[in-house]
Amino acid sequence: MPTFTPDILQGQVALVTGGGTGIGKEIARTFGRHGARLCIAARRQEVIESTRQEFEQEGLECLAVPCDVRQPDQVEVVLQETLARFGRLDVLVNNAAGNFPAPMAGISYNGFKSIVDIDLLGTYNFSKAAYDAWLGEHGGNIVNITAPFEQMGAAYQAHVAAAKTGVNSLTRTCAVEWGPKGIRTNAIAPGAVAETEGLDRFGSVGDNSGRSGPLGRAGSKQELANVALFLVSEAASYVNGQVISVDGGSGVDGLKMPMP
Ligand code: COA
Repeated sequence: MPTFTPDILQGQVALVTGGGTGIGKEIARTFGRHGARLCIAARRQEVIESTRQEFEQEGLECLAVPCDVRQPDQVEVVLQETLARFGRLDVLVNNAAGNFPAPMAGISYNGFKSIVDIDLLGTYNFSKAAYDAWLGEHGGNIVNITAPFEQMGAAYQAHVAAAKTGVNSLTRTCAVEWGPKGIRTNAIAPGAVAETEGLDRFGSVGDNSGRSGPLGRAGSKQELANVALFLVSEAASYVNGQVISVDGGSGVDGLKMPMP
């Protein structure tokens, strides 16, 4: 039995950056299954093309446009192509992100810059371009995929933590500046999510204590996508400027004591 009615996004158009793989792909698919037409944008043409074909075989309507979120001219092309194909835009998901674990002094200058450019500037670039091209006049929803590091030191994640904390700040500023334009902006901070590149790279679940967090398991991509769907739906019509943790409670597990 589906959680949401299948027409919850009927007639809407959703653009998902990094929508060819991982969490972004699952969010795009979930939005499509609930009525949205899709644009996925990411760097690797062959990856987004393969995902587009997979979606089309599932009966979803999908455009795939190659794009490096760091390049404003490429970002603007994605908006132009989306509007040319679908004539509207309702939802932007800023999901594209880079990550590699490394101690702070071991990250090269360019490595740090690359992550900030992809995660923070990429989110700004797409938000601004979407606002200018459509959302500013018509309203809509923005969901930023961030990280749970804002209130903590994050060993081996200095670059990501700094960039994603900036994304959280952008989320709140967009909510305040663009709320009057009918745009709600929220963020999701995922914990450990199974079957993702992120988890593969870190190889741990939930926290670094060796146990699996209060729920005893990693989350699924579908569980992340469900929250994204809620946030862009009318059910969340008064939710704006929030960073929602979807982590099974790991973030509030202060003592991380072993449980019987
Ligand atoms: N460890 C240390 N440094 C790394 C690295 C790693 N695993 N991967 C990349 N870098 C450094 C590079 O050495 C380079 O710095 P340098 O010029 O000083 O050598 C810099 O980062 C940029 O790397 P580059 O190869 O030019 O690629 P890019 O900027 O286009 O993207 C990544 C690199 C790492 C951002 C990208 O490949 C990536 O993020 N891939 C993983 C995606 C992912 O895991 N997503 C899930 C997020 S949770």
